[in-house]
Amino acid sequence: MSEAREQIIILDFGSQYTQVIARRVREFNVFSTIMRPNTRAAEIDALAPNGIILSGGPMSVYQKDAPMPDPGIFALGIPVLGICYGMQVMSYLLHGKVAHGLKREYGRAELDVTVPSCPLFTNLDQKQTVWMSHGDKLTELPRGFEAIARSSNSPFAAMESRERNLFGLQFHPEVVHTPHGREILKNFMFRVCGCQGLWTMASFIERSVKEIRATVGDDRVILGLSGGVDSSVAAALIHKAIGNQLAPIFVNNGLLRKGEAESVERVFGKNFRMKLKTANASHLFLDRLKGVTNPERKRKIIGKTFIDVFEKNAKSVKGAKFLAQGTLYPDVIESIPTAGGPSAMIKSHHNVGGLPKRMRFQLLEPLRQLFKDEVRRVGEELGLPREIVWRQPFPGPGLAVRVLGAINKPRLDILREADWIVVEEMKASGWYYKIWQSFAVLLPIRTVGVMGDERTYDHVIAIRAVDSQDGMTADWVRFPPDLLARISNRIINEVKGVNRVCLDISSKPPATIEWE
Ligand code: XMP
Repeated sequence: MSEAREQIIILDFGSQYTQVIARRVREFNVFSTIMRPNTRAAEIDALAPNGIILSGGPMSVYQKDAPMPDPGIFALGIPVLGICYGMQVMSYLLHGKVAHGLKREYGRAELDVTVPSCPLFTNLDQKQTVWMSHGDKLTELPRGFEAIARSSNSPFAAMESRERNLFGLQFHPEVVHTPHGREILKNFMFRVCGCQGLWTMASFIERSVKEIRATVGDDRVILGLSGGVDSSVAAALIHKAIGNQLAPIFVNNGLLRKGEAESVERVFGKNFRMKLKTANASHLFLDRLKGVTNPERKRKIIGKTFIDVFEKNAKSVKGAKFLAQGTLYPDVIESIPTAGGPSAMIKSHHNVGGLPKRMRFQLLEPLRQLFKDEVRRVGEELGLPREIVWRQPFPGPGLAVRVLGAINKPRLDILREADWIVVEEMKASGWYYKIWQSFAVLLPIRTVGVMGDERTYDHVIAIRAVDSQDGMTADWVRFPPDLLARISNRIINEVKGVNRVCLDISSKPPATIEWE
């Protein structure tokens, strides 16, 4: 079986864990695709997946708009695993009985495996701790099914119809609170679905390179390179496929960190030998930002100026037909619009998005099937340096949202120097790659200080360092006092015009990560 064919389809019934299921599957080198819950059986069959997983979901099968899969999927001869709501909806459609409106079961439960020969439980102990989260409950199995595990709350905590390769789990194997959940999913993929784990980053690269070549042909591709992880990996991948048919454009907006422009030129221009086009537009950006203090206006001006500069430079790439973007999987998953569903929650900043319609390009998005950690692994495989692959997130509007108040070169330079010290100390102490973000902010006030015999009236720098999974919530990092002391001493001694350093100790929410 070819790598391209080995995959698990996940039908999304709106669970907050659907993306977690997709990632668990991929951790075992099997490709996974999340699809709409009502995807037609014929459409799924045409993709010839090795197996189908029905996710959990917040609804009851009896609710008016409860999402239903196409019942035809149970007759395709493809193994199906229903998780929580997925098990209930399978039972419901195959004429089992689901009881509605009982007491909700939430939290840890003890599972007693009653049919240890079930392939899902191979190499697992008979007693398992699992995570439950459901309201409805199965009271009668569909015909042809057998209970394979029970819990104190239910004789049907798991079920199978082995000859039809249909399985149901009332608990969530994908969450960490089910300690052996990974093995159960692995057993489903490898023992039931016949997967071999052929989808690796190397195989992904090989296939993408072929696809990019076939799509692009002899045409040229432009790409807005920011130096961030996504656009950098996209650039390296496309360059591997089509070499100098790729024209990366790097806009220096004058709002970058110290050394950033040089680093992008060194890595992509020199090491990778790309035909990098650097648009030095610092003056234009700073001119347009003169006197602007409102954060939203700053963002708008920067966004618009970026488009102006990018468009001008793109025009000079003759015959460019494609625009490449580092779009990732969480931005494109077609899920059901359940309020508060995971795809609804992800906040994305499309910094190159919103290009005017008059720029008629076809989009090339080679990373659109990948999660962020997979993009990083592709980047490593392509030989991008650690400082880029594991770079902390940096906002599109750059230092503009960290220079509070008016933006001008002297103030930017103060922040750049202070920020440089923060980054240097984070890297030296090993914290940089452990946390989500760490940076300096220049406050719009001055305070009194004393230096030698003289009083000073100088700037204040705030240090912001947070840990986070996805940027949606965050907590401030508890640094050792010695490290804080070193950062503070260095900033005050080395950065002219700063006489005070503060530490931001607020979590998100209610504060945000950035100050503007
Ligand atoms: P906040 O400040 O909203 O930040 O808690 C969450 C994450 O998003 C980044 N961020 C931005 N990224 N353009 C971007 O590309 C922006 O305008 C922007 N604002 C915030 C921020 O650095 C953090 O990682």
